[in-house]
Amino acid sequence: MRGLPALPGPAAVPALPLCAAGAWPGRAGAAAPLQRRFLAARALTVAALASELEQNLRAAPDSPLLRDILHQTVLHPLCVKYPPSTKYRRCFLTELIKKHESTAAEPLDELYNTLADVLKEEESTQCYKNYLLPTGDCVTLSESTAMISGGTTGLVTWEAALHLAGWAGGNPEVFRARTVLELGSGIGFTGIAICKTCQPKTYIFSDCHPCVLRQLGENIRLNGFEVTWCIQTEPQGQEVEAKNCPKLMVAELDWGSVTEEQLVGLQPDVVIAADVVYDPEIILALIGMLQKLSTSRADRKAPEVFIAFTLRNPDTYHLFQAQLDKVGIRWQIIPAHGNSNFLYDVQPNVTILQLFI
Ligand SMILES: C[S@@+](CC[C@H](N)C(=O)[O-])C[C@H]1O[C@@H](n2cnc3c(N)ncnc32)[C@H](O)[C@@H]1O
Repeated sequence: MRGLPALPGPAAVPALPLCAAGAWPGRAGAAAPLQRRFLAARALTVAALASELEQNLRAAPDSPLLRDILHQTVLHPLCVKYPPSTKYRRCFLTELIKKHESTAAEPLDELYNTLADVLKEEESTQCYKNYLLPTGDCVTLSESTAMISGGTTGLVTWEAALHLAGWAGGNPEVFRARTVLELGSGIGFTGIAICKTCQPKTYIFSDCHPCVLRQLGENIRLNGFEVTWCIQTEPQGQEVEAKNCPKLMVAELDWGSVTEEQLVGLQPDVVIAADVVYDPEIILALIGMLQKLSTSRADRKAPEVFIAFTLRNPDTYHLFQAQLDKVGIRWQIIPAHGNSNFLYDVQPNVTILQLFI
């Protein structure tokens, strides 16, 4: 079984030449969104290939166009170093070859050789995803290939996390020079994106699941940041008191059991969370935690709270709102923002609520 490639140390994700948005060098401008979706291993990429490539290949059925596409996707240095899953690359290449063969173009050996190399690889339960942010920064994450693994949903990046980071990128003043606490961070996309684009003073990632916390720590380091563990997470001999935490902290924090005393040490100005409203039991614990947070600020100024979620079951959404109303937490829907769709694909029904705790 092919193992997960060794994770390099700090500042490991290199600045690599990427196509500027909308500019496939010397070729069709529509291909940059394709590259962006490919590097993040978006499910739509294969389908998108059909519409985006068919026209280009028919208009110019020459190998250089395909070679460009190959080098901006599967053979891109970022993809070579941090590859999406074997299955994803195999499907992508197969689709590319099918499209190519449907034209009268000369076969491109490099395309077949690349597929042959991918076919030799064994499937792994881990893969990389490279999220190109509108600023030109990239967040590279090691993720699980399964949506649920190890009994948690926290080992993959969910749509609400992408949406929240996109919104944050359009509203950096909410985060700049402030202390941000993220609840249910999962493996870290939103927080790492905010740290790269919004200059928070301190960013506190938190979660309750040991495997999620371990992967989160690895991903933070993979993106070039130092991690300080606080409260009582998997310390790996690095546990320090909250007062000594540098800019990026990871806290083991369970909404059901966290105490007000533990929260007093954090003092967030802003609290965010993505895709944490999906289960009635969790909703009650989350709201209880928010109530504790509202009273834990030394200066009695309650933090600003933004929660992004995907509307899957209207009953769960209404239960969340009803529970907020019951405990007197006002809320408002943040209007959809153009920046939130930086991967250029169809968003499911994702909403951000601002809560006034
Ligand atoms: C659906 S995942 C979302 C992860 C990430 N925010 C995202 O959107 O990609 C939900 C996360 O909430 C965390 N979680 C669930 N219940 C929790 C609790 N009681 N306390 C802290 N975290 C919790 C899980 O461990 C998981 O990482």
